[in-house]
Amino acid sequence: MIFRHGSLNRRDALLLLLGASSMHIWSMLFGTAMAPSDQSIVINTHLQHNGDAQEQLLAHAPGWTMFRNLYMSNGTIFIVADENSRKRFPEIRMITSTGLEAENTPENIAMREPTEENMRIITPQEAKARWVSIPSDRKANVENRVWSVEGNTLLFNDPKQFLRHYYHFVAELFFGVQAFWHGAFSAPITPADALTASSPTHFSLSHPAAPPMHRAIFAHSNADGWRDDPGFNSYFLRAALPSLIVEHQEDWNDRIIATRPVGDQPERAWHFPIVLFTDRSAAHRGRMCGSTTQRTASEAWDYMRLHGKLRGLHIGGWWAPLREAVWRFAGAPEASGITTRNRDDKQLLPMPERIVISYISRQGARNRKLIPRDHEALVKSMKELRKRRQLDGQIPPEWEFNELLAERMTKDDQVKAAARTTIMLGVHGNGLTHLVFMKPNRASTVIEIFYPKGFAHDYHWTTRSLGMTHVAVWNDKIYTHPEKPGVDYPEGFQGNEIPVHGPTIAKLIEDRVAGKI
Ligand SMILES: *[C@@H]1O[C@H](CO)[C@@H](O)[C@H](O)[C@H]1NC(C)=O
Repeated sequence: MIFRHGSLNRRDALLLLLGASSMHIWSMLFGTAMAPSDQSIVINTHLQHNGDAQEQLLAHAPGWTMFRNLYMSNGTIFIVADENSRKRFPEIRMITSTGLEAENTPENIAMREPTEENMRIITPQEAKARWVSIPSDRKANVENRVWSVEGNTLLFNDPKQFLRHYYHFVAELFFGVQAFWHGAFSAPITPADALTASSPTHFSLSHPAAPPMHRAIFAHSNADGWRDDPGFNSYFLRAALPSLIVEHQEDWNDRIIATRPVGDQPERAWHFPIVLFTDRSAAHRGRMCGSTTQRTASEAWDYMRLHGKLRGLHIGGWWAPLREAVWRFAGAPEASGITTRNRDDKQLLPMPERIVISYISRQGARNRKLIPRDHEALVKSMKELRKRRQLDGQIPPEWEFNELLAERMTKDDQVKAAARTTIMLGVHGNGLTHLVFMKPNRASTVIEIFYPKGFAHDYHWTTRSLGMTHVAVWNDKIYTHPEKPGVDYPEGFQGNEIPVHGPTIAKLIEDRVAGKI
């Protein structure tokens, strides 16, 4: 998935990047990540010379931290840093937590505050004292008890609470992973480009490939813990990252036990050359996630955006490698035709040849359904849309309306349907997660129906972070950027009497396609 058809191989991509300002990170990375296994190198270079925060902390936002050289021994994560540079590390509570399930009570919030047993910063001297035994007899060998886990690792500290859910797993966890991973390994966009919304880099899908993610470790979840009931999480993971090695709590415990000292042996440590460490509770301590969006991925995304490192910002270009890998896996037509047109903002993306409206129906679900009469009227309004008027003197594109009952479709077909969708429409719910597989064009929109006065940021933030338009609907009222309701779950939010005014949605779609919204 890293190297798109017809694009560069890793070596070319690397060569291209030399000279970019991220060269430092790249050479460090490949110096480390691709070096042959040699435990003495690990100890010599990593413990003696790399106490410098700047070299070890590749990027950090609350809940998302990219480390070079992270260690684990007896279940504790160790950052090795000298006295000077440890001050430059963020507070540990912004990196990790105890990994317990979250509840909104003061007791639970306190119990999720990390302790020294979860993560700790030690000096290179202390690391050596712990993990290297230097015999008094000069002829005996120095015994190095640090073992490298080669390659690049995603280390997930969360329990299954939010992993076992398609939206939280794909549109939050892996969304944030991809934003952070892509951003950390991208050369910054020039400051001038970063400031102009019409910058071609914001509409670009051709970026140098980031290094591969080799391994994901779910430290607090067993194999079942991240698998949602419909099975979309495992489908996504194998489709998007087919070579990713997955380890679970049991494997992490094996690693913990293997590091515990036995008898008078010193303890061992595992060394991870490159790690993206994620923690949901720590992300919620951030300003963006904690008080604005409630989306953990928004911390990762916003950090990279502010640093000018999210390429293809207006079409989810940073997300494209995973999106396209899933398209290919599903057998959906490949990305093509997303090209810049001219410098006028509204004209940058092409109109689709066909307006495909996908209504994700929840009428077969247990809860959160439309009033049956309103559902029927909505479908009728959608079918009448074909007879719409001409749009701004252009030849009107063809229209297509599909009512999708995801539970009756194969996963491949669901992805294919999402990939063709221009306007995704539905009641607030997990089915809207498929928006991450839409192919952005000028009319791309997600219309989310809420019980009046209800609102949540889940699909709102996700849609907008991919550069698409989101509209919240309360029966016959619509809200779109810069307007949005406050977060609320009024009585009726989860119920089966959600009203919607079909003609309002029809007009909304016409206006949107005509560029009036
Ligand atoms: C290893 O971790 C366990 C559980 O946290 C703890 O009880 C034990 O004291 C630790 N052992 C060492 C040697 O630190």
